[in-house]
Amino acid sequence: MRPLLIFGASRGVGLELARLERATGRPVAAMLRPQSDAGHLQQIGVEILRGDALSRPDIEQALAQLSGPFDTVSTLSGRGEDGRLADDEGNINVIETVAASGSAGRFVLITSMGCGDMAPYRSERAIAAFGAVVDAKTLAEDRLRKTGLDWTILRPGGLLSEPATGNGLLTQNPQVHGFIHRADVALLASRVLRDPATSRHAFAAVDRNRMSCDTPVEPFSLA
Ligand SMILES: NC(=O)c1ccc[n+]([C@@H]2O[C@H](COP(=O)([O-])OP(=O)(O)OC[C@H]3O[C@@H](n4cnc5c(N)ncnc54)[C@H](OP(=O)(O)O)[C@@H]3O)[C@@H](O)[C@H]2O)c1
Repeated sequence: MRPLLIFGASRGVGLELARLERATGRPVAAMLRPQSDAGHLQQIGVEILRGDALSRPDIEQALAQLSGPFDTVSTLSGRGEDGRLADDEGNINVIETVAASGSAGRFVLITSMGCGDMAPYRSERAIAAFGAVVDAKTLAEDRLRKTGLDWTILRPGGLLSEPATGNGLLTQNPQVHGFIHRADVALLASRVLRDPATSRHAFAAVDRNRMSCDTPVEPFSLA
């Protein structure tokens, strides 16, 4: 199996995914900012590459340390010290650098419910609370779609730090709302990486027991 490179593995969904993939014996590398704690990742055998996603040369240096084809997952989110967002600029740097590497396998981008065609169904409260970040993530989604990469976009609902339930589902219904555990998003990402039928599609990711929708939700059937 190709090695997996994760951006955003210091915590949350990225860390859960690193745990899952290492448990299968897959080689995993993670690019972490210099100040970011790598302890949990090192304990499970993840190769740590240091760099800031807001710096394209940092990403190029990280990729240069990998040999052969690799898959990529990005869960990047947050601001740099100067206010720039990893959600758009960081992700776009990663997308373009991975695309230019010539060694890219699958590319899974974790964004958010409300991105892209889900935007018209956002509540006023959600727009006020996360609108700018969600719009930034949409820019990254748009850039990814224009590459020749073998991509899938996952848009989780509100994230909860609880153990996996196995109740996460993917759907292309843009009207769905709800919550999902970070560990379940990681489980879905892990399956998506292995399922070619998810290629070049964007999905909302939500817990089947914690979702609401005005129209029927058809879950995507993962392999
Ligand atoms: N919170 C929610 O309810 C919610 C809902 C829907 C979607 N989402 C999205 O789902 C994804 C996963 O969320 P999460 O809460 O599990 O993770 P998270 O806490 O948002 O983690 C973000 C990751 O990005 C890294 N990062 C930020 N800026 C970086 C930079 N310039 N260079 C390198 N790494 C950088 C952080 O590393 P550091 O350790 O260096 O900070 C961290 O590992 C995120 O994209 C999030 O926005 C969240």
